[in-house]
Amino acid sequence: MPSVDASSTAPPAPDEAWRLPRTVEPITYRLVLAPDLGSATFAGTAEIDVVVHEATDRVVLNAIELAIDGATVTTADGKVEPAAVALDDDAERATFTFPTTDGAAPLPAGPATLRCSFTGILNDKLRGFYRSTFIDQDGITRTIATTQFESTDARRAFPCWDEPDRKAVFEVTLAVDDGLAAFSNSPIVDETPDPGAPDRRRVRFAPTMKMSTYLVAFVVGPLEATDPVDVDGVPVRVVHAPGKGHLAPYALEVAGHSLRFFSTYFDIPYPADKLDLVAIPDFAFGAMENLGCVTFRETALLVDPASAARTELERVADVVAHEIAHMWFGDLVTMKWWEGIWLNEAFATFMEVLAVDAFRPAWQRWVSFGLEREAALAVDGLRATRPIEYPVGSPEEADGMFDVLTYQKGGSVLRMLEQYLGPDTFRDGVRRYLRAHAYANTVTGDLWQALEEESGEPVRAVMDSWILQGGHPLVGSAGGTVTQRPFAYAPVGADGENAIGEHWEVPVLVRSLDGASDRLLLGPTPLPLPASVRGPNGGGSGGGAPAVVNAGGWGVYRVGYGPEDLTALAGRLDDLGPLERFNLFADTWASVLADQGGLDGFLALAVALDDREDPSTWTVVNAALGLFDRVVAAADRPVVAAAARALLGAAATDLGWEPRPGEGERVPTLRSLLLSSLGTVGADPDVRARAAELFDRSRDGGEAIDPDIEGAVLQAVTAQVRPGDYEAILARYRSPGTPQQELRYLSTLATFPDVDLSLATFDLLLGEVRTQNAPYLLTTLLANRVGGPAVWQRVKEQWAELLDRFPVNSHSRMLDGARTLCGDPDLAADVTRFLTDHPLRSGQRSVVQMLERLAINVAFADRHRDSLGRSLAAVPGAATTG
Ligand code: BES
Ligand code: ZN
Repeated sequence: MPSVDASSTAPPAPDEAWRLPRTVEPITYRLVLAPDLGSATFAGTAEIDVVVHEATDRVVLNAIELAIDGATVTTADGKVEPAAVALDDDAERATFTFPTTDGAAPLPAGPATLRCSFTGILNDKLRGFYRSTFIDQDGITRTIATTQFESTDARRAFPCWDEPDRKAVFEVTLAVDDGLAAFSNSPIVDETPDPGAPDRRRVRFAPTMKMSTYLVAFVVGPLEATDPVDVDGVPVRVVHAPGKGHLAPYALEVAGHSLRFFSTYFDIPYPADKLDLVAIPDFAFGAMENLGCVTFRETALLVDPASAARTELERVADVVAHEIAHMWFGDLVTMKWWEGIWLNEAFATFMEVLAVDAFRPAWQRWVSFGLEREAALAVDGLRATRPIEYPVGSPEEADGMFDVLTYQKGGSVLRMLEQYLGPDTFRDGVRRYLRAHAYANTVTGDLWQALEEESGEPVRAVMDSWILQGGHPLVGSAGGTVTQRPFAYAPVGADGENAIGEHWEVPVLVRSLDGASDRLLLGPTPLPLPASVRGPNGGGSGGGAPAVVNAGGWGVYRVGYGPEDLTALAGRLDDLGPLERFNLFADTWASVLADQGGLDGFLALAVALDDREDPSTWTVVNAALGLFDRVVAAADRPVVAAAARALLGAAATDLGWEPRPGEGERVPTLRSLLLSSLGTVGADPDVRARAAELFDRSRDGGEAIDPDIEGAVLQAVTAQVRPGDYEAILARYRSPGTPQQELRYLSTLATFPDVDLSLATFDLLLGEVRTQNAPYLLTTLLANRVGGPAVWQRVKEQWAELLDRFPVNSHSRMLDGARTLCGDPDLAADVTRFLTDHPLRSGQRSVVQMLERLAINVAFADRHRDSLGRSLAAVPGAATTG
C-alpha cells in the first residue's frame, strides 16, 4: 500500500456487499426465547414491527445456524401473508418472500409486522446464544445459557437486521425452567406461568431504548444476584454463580463510582433503567457492554480485595469502568458501521483510564497507561500496521478490528487530543457530540465537528492524519529545530508492504528541564524550538540538557535525541516526570530494535535508573533483559544474568520483600517486577532461595504468600524446576479460592523452563482448561524460552484442532507469543512459512504483524548476538558478580 499524504486522506469507502437492503426498517422486536439447558437447544419466536419504505415482495435480514419456519407478514390492512424462507449461510442471510397476487407487490409501503418461529443450538463457541458451565458447591455441573453478540452474532440467536445502525426497541420474554434466574437488558415487568410447559415460567422484560442488535443480551441459569445498590436512582447488582457473592462488593463500588463519574462527565443521565454486571464462567473476551446487562469473564468482575494483587484490582476497575463508559459511548451513540469501531473502543479505553484515575488517584493510571500506548506503538511501528479507521466488510473483518490499534492507539490519540485542546474544552465537545447523536449513529467526522464547534481549533485536519493513516512519527530535536519523519522498526515490510504514513499534524509540547513550556503544531516543515524552552547555548536548557520534547508524555510519537543529549538526560532522570522518563526509555529501546540507535546509549540509561516508586520504566529494562536472554550465545547467558542483577539488585534490596507502611501504591508492583526478573533472567540465588522458602511454607494450607508478590514468587520457583512443584501448582489451579488465583496458577504452569512440563501444559490446554483461557495460555507457552520450540511443533501438528476448539476471535491472540521464537533463525523461518501458508480467517493482520515483530527480533539477534556479552559485561557490577 502506498503511504498516504495526510492532507489528501479521505474516510474509507464502505463495502456494500455485506450490507442489507434498506427497503424495510425494523422498529420493535418482540422476542420470546426458550432455552433448553439440558439439550443445549433453544426455540424462539420473533414478532418484528417494521416500516416498509418501498413496496416489495421480500424482506432480507440476517440469520445463521437457525432453522426458521412459520413466517408471515401482517400488513396495515390486517392481511396476513405466509412467507417462503430461504437461508443463505454464506451470506448469513434469510430472505422472506411473499407470493405475488395479480402482479402487485404483496408488501405495500407502510407499517407491517413480520412473524416467525425458529430453533437453534446453544453452541459452545462463546458466541451467539451459547452454553457455559460451572461446577456448583455440591460438585454438580450446572449450565447457563448466555449471549455474546458483538460484532455480528445476534443473527445466531434470532433473525434480525444485524447492523449497528438498524437501531430498534427490543421487548424480550424468556421462557425458563423454574429454579433458573433470567436476565436481559431491562428490568422484569412480570413473570407468568408458561402456557406451553408446566415447569416453566415466562419472564417478560420492559422494552429497551432504541438500540443496536449487538447490545441485546439474554442470560438464563442457576445464578444469584446481589441486593441492588442504589446509585442515584439506578439499581446496580452483580450476578454470579452461587457461593461467589462475597467477591462482588469491589465491583459494585467501582460501578457506583463509574456511573456517577460518567453521568457527570457526559452530563447525560445513565440511559437504561437498571445495571446488572453478570459474571459468566466461559467468556471469550474480558467483558461486553450489553445495555443494562454487562457480561464479564469472572476474573474481570469477581475479586477478593484481601487476596488480590493491586494489578488484579486495577484490572477489575478498568474493565468495569470501560464497559460502563460504553453505556453512553457505544450504546447511546453508536458507530454507523464497523470501520468506526474505534469510536466505541478507543473512547471507552480513554474514559476507563479517566474514571479509574479519579477512583484511585494514587494508582497514577495515566502513568501506567503509558505501557498500553507503548504496546500500541510496538505494533504501529510495523510496516504491517493499519490506520485506526479501516474499511470493513465481512464479519471476520469486523472481528479483526478489536486490536491494540483500535483500543490502545485510539485511546492514546484521544488523550493527546484532550491534552492539546484542554480537558474542559474536550469534555464539552464530547457532551455536544453525545447530545446531538443520542439514540442514533455516527461517523468519525461527527466527533470532530462537535469538537471543532466547541474549540474553534482545526480538529479534523489534525485528527485525520492520526486516524486515517497508519504509523506515527519520530520527532527529532537538534540544533534548536524540531522535525518529524515516520518511525519504522524495519526498513521494508513483507512483500514490500508499507502502511506507515509520511507525516502527521503533531501536537508537540516542549519544556526546558527548569520548567518553561510551550506548544507547537508540527507539520512537514521543521519548526524552530521556542526560545522560551531553549537553554543558554541554543539547543538545550540549564546544565547542557536538551529541552524535553513530548513534555508530560502524552504525545503519540517517539522522540529521537542525539547521543550527547541522551547522556545529558541520563544524568537528569529525576527531573523528568514518570511518563517522560518511561517514554525516554521506551523510545530509546525502540531505536535500538529499529537499528537506529546503539545499545550503549540504552544501557547507560538503564544504569542510571534508580526509581523506587514507578514500575513502568523498569518494565522497559526488564523487556530488554528478556530479549538479551533469548538471543545471547549460551556461554554468555551468565553475563546477562549478572547484568540483570547489577541493574536491578540495588532497587530490589531497597524495597525488600515486604510492604512497608506508607509506601506508594505502585511500589508493590515494582517490587514484584524486580523480584521476578531477578528470580528468572537474573538467576539470583538469594531471590530464588527466598521464593522457594515462601512457596514451601505456603503449601498445604500454610502461610499465604502476599498476593502482590505471589506472581514473582511463582516465577522464581518455576525457574528452578524442582521436582513436585508442577504438581503442586496444578493442584492449586484445580481448587482455587478466587478467579484470579485460578488464572495465576494456570499461567504459572506455562512458565517452567522445561520441555516436558511445557508439553504437559499444552495437553491440559487441549483438555481440562476452559477454552476461554486456552489462547492466553498458549501464548505464554510459545513464549517459554525452553519449551516454546517444542510447543510450536505441537501447534503445527494440532492446528486444525486448535482452530476448531478455541473462539475464532482469539486465534490471533493465541499465536502472539510466537514473536519471541527468535533464538533460532530456522525456527523463525518455519513459523513464518507456516503462518503465511495457513492464514486465519479472522485476525490474520495481527498474525502478519506478529511475524514482522519476530523478524525484527531475529534481526536484533543477528546484529547483537556476538557482541552482547561484551556490552553487558561493561555494565558496572556485571563483570564481577558473575
Ligand atoms: N465491546 C468489547 C467486547 C468485544 C471485544 C466484543 C471484541 C467483540 C469483539 C468490550 O467493551 C471490550 O472492549 N472488552 C475488553 C475489555 C476492556 C476493559 C478493554 C475485552 O474484552 O478485552
Ligand atoms: Zn470496549
